[in-house]
Amino acid sequence: METNFNHLLHDASRVAVPQPANFPLMITNIGLDDEARLEIGQILNLVLADEYVIYATTRDYHWNVTGPEFPSLHRQFAEQTDQVAGWIDDVAERARAIGAGARGNWADLTSAARTSADPGYRLSSNRMLRELLGLHESMIVQLRSDSETCGDRLKEAGTADFLTGLMRRHEKIAWMLRAQLENSVTTRV
Ligand SMILES: [Fe+2]
Repeated sequence: METNFNHLLHDASRVAVPQPANFPLMITNIGLDDEARLEIGQILNLVLADEYVIYATTRDYHWNVTGPEFPSLHRQFAEQTDQVAGWIDDVAERARAIGAGARGNWADLTSAARTSADPGYRLSSNRMLRELLGLHESMIVQLRSDSETCGDRLKEAGTADFLTGLMRRHEKIAWMLRAQLENSVTTRV
């Protein structure tokens, strides 16, 4: 069963690729043609899969974090898990708002994800922060590119604005993680 659509996103001819049977478009009248909506839907669904990686990783670390900073990191990772859960919902519902499908099937999500991180069990808390920072920074780079694609080439201001807003939320978490790592370097080495 074909579930990985990565080749569609990175292939320059992707808008000419026939619509996958399990990725239906609803009929809409919002000034966007089907090819644009299909491409935006694919962009959003790949972002959705990557957000799930951040969600699952942050939750994994919430459960498995150890060390003297346990109470604050356990709480911090719980809060960030909840934040990202809300963003996941926003991404899926943005895809539905333009009439595209939202790929919520777990097997499809895991095969579509473009990022990964180390499992949390027995991982140092410092390494957890670095892994999370890497995930958020990758997401920021991807969202910056996707926002430009939607705004400049596809002329879809709504999704471009949405993705830019999502990027800013990741930038704020990335800043906080970076600040924590900077502190750990200066106080422990
Ligand atoms: Fe918990």
